[in-house]
Amino acid sequence: MYAKLKKLSERPDAFSIYTANTLWTDPHLAEQMLQFHLSQDTALASRPITAINRVVNWIDQTVGLDGISVCDLGCGPGLYTNRFAEHGAVVHGLDFSPTSIGYARKHALAKSRQVTYQIADYLKDPLPGQQDLVTLIYCDLCPLSPVQRETLLAKIRQALKPGGRFILDVSSIKAFETVREGVSFERNLMNGFWSADDYFGFQHTFRYEDEAVSLDHFTIIEKDRSWDVYNWLKHFSPEEIHRELTQAGFGKIEFTEGFGVDPSDDTTFGVIASA
Ligand SMILES: C[S@@+](CC[C@H](N)C(=O)[O-])C[C@H]1O[C@@H](n2cnc3c(N)ncnc32)[C@H](O)[C@@H]1O
Repeated sequence: MYAKLKKLSERPDAFSIYTANTLWTDPHLAEQMLQFHLSQDTALASRPITAINRVVNWIDQTVGLDGISVCDLGCGPGLYTNRFAEHGAVVHGLDFSPTSIGYARKHALAKSRQVTYQIADYLKDPLPGQQDLVTLIYCDLCPLSPVQRETLLAKIRQALKPGGRFILDVSSIKAFETVREGVSFERNLMNGFWSADDYFGFQHTFRYEDEAVSLDHFTIIEKDRSWDVYNWLKHFSPEEIHRELTQAGFGKIEFTEGFGVDPSDDTTFGVIASA
């Protein structure tokens, strides 16, 4: 028992294990995540609708959505894609969660054929080309390792027309300042989020000072199996994300506030980069 507890409380090297696919595509978790996306009481998977509308309006004012092609990476259940289409864009929504894409297809605008959805992994599968705009919204670059970020940013740069734009938001250094290391243990941790069956759950939170990375490591112990989910989050300074985008070949790079759940929230910021 001592050796097991010692092992599960060890600090892994930053980004040494990637489990995002379990978090988003395990059937039980994907259903829980879908409810989080749609809930107006939690911002765990998506922002509330008021904030989504604010962000979409800002994107429309900034790039002009009418008549342009947009690829929304990690589109989830389509909370942004439908709104982009309402502003006149021709939209391609891509996500590796069949549960979220199933919901998005079912709730696509009845009058519009302007949104197509694809179940795909943006790290592994080809992206649609010749896009005017690519979006990656709700800090989805931040769970990725430096190598994965480099791969994805290069693919996005390739997917854009010359002069096309890439809009994303990232977690800020202010958000990193709020992360506290610690451990919690609870039977059916997070009210049964992790499994429909009875389980014991551990959550270890670590800070990686040099990289401004945080980790929430969940260990779920069920009757017949134990498994782990590692939620990494890279927190960016404007200079760091500017450097990564420049290295990927983007030209003009600008920053904006107002991407948070609340407009004055400084735990995230928006970035717009030109190809
Ligand atoms: C934090 S949610 C944001 C969803 C949506 N952008 C929103 O704000 O409502 C992250 C989304 O990215 C998807 N995702 C994560 N990694 C992915 C990958 N490698 N390929 C495709 N989709 C991915 C998840 O399934 C999930 O729907």
